[in-house]
Amino acid sequence: MELIVATKNKKKLQEIKDILKYRKVKITSLADYPNAPRIIENAKTFKENAIKKAVRIARFTKRLTLGEDSGLCVYALGGKPGVYSSRFSGKNKSDMQNNLKLLTMLKGLPGNKRKAYYACAVALADKDGLIAAVEGRCYGLIGFELKGTSGFGYDPLFIIPEFKKTFAQLGERIKHKMSHRYRALQKAKRFFSKYIECSRIS
Ligand code: IMP
Repeated sequence: MELIVATKNKKKLQEIKDILKYRKVKITSLADYPNAPRIIENAKTFKENAIKKAVRIARFTKRLTLGEDSGLCVYALGGKPGVYSSRFSGKNKSDMQNNLKLLTMLKGLPGNKRKAYYACAVALADKDGLIAAVEGRCYGLIGFELKGTSGFGYDPLFIIPEFKKTFAQLGERIKHKMSHRYRALQKAKRFFSKYIECSRIS
């Protein structure tokens, strides 16, 4: 059985593999399908973007595909950067530039006004269309400075209140048990297992 993860982001792919922990499923990505169509992520919600990725890639490859879209939503910024998280400071800018922009925009805001959450939408589709789309969230606070080296994106700024540490400080073992991606994938796993069961029967 193969599951294509419709992403080119290597860190995201690794996180998804670590969380799914499937031994009998071959997990591939867009790196294995260089001719796959480029998906423009222009929807207004994470879910719509995830569905678009899953459905288009599944239609093209005729294989079971997982589409994922995620990002950071900061309450004080009215939910920004949201679906624009990866290009918050412009196209082809680095995670560091995005983090620095976020710090600048939140300058002067006290700790209790720095509430935020990560959101992750996961969609499953096969050649016949969408199977399911689910979402997971993880709540936290935006720090005053970058801390830690693990993870990617906004992890050096995203503080988990119960640990008083950023995801980048906490490391993968803890992140992958409580993250938005973990929560969305746990829900998606149910649909995936059902799909495998039905494929075996038919
Ligand atoms: P996407 O490829 O459009 O889904 O981009 C998601 C963007 O959201 C990433 O480039 C990061 O900036 C941010 N993001 C999503 N999930 C995470 C995470 O787990 N840690 C840190 N940043 C994340």
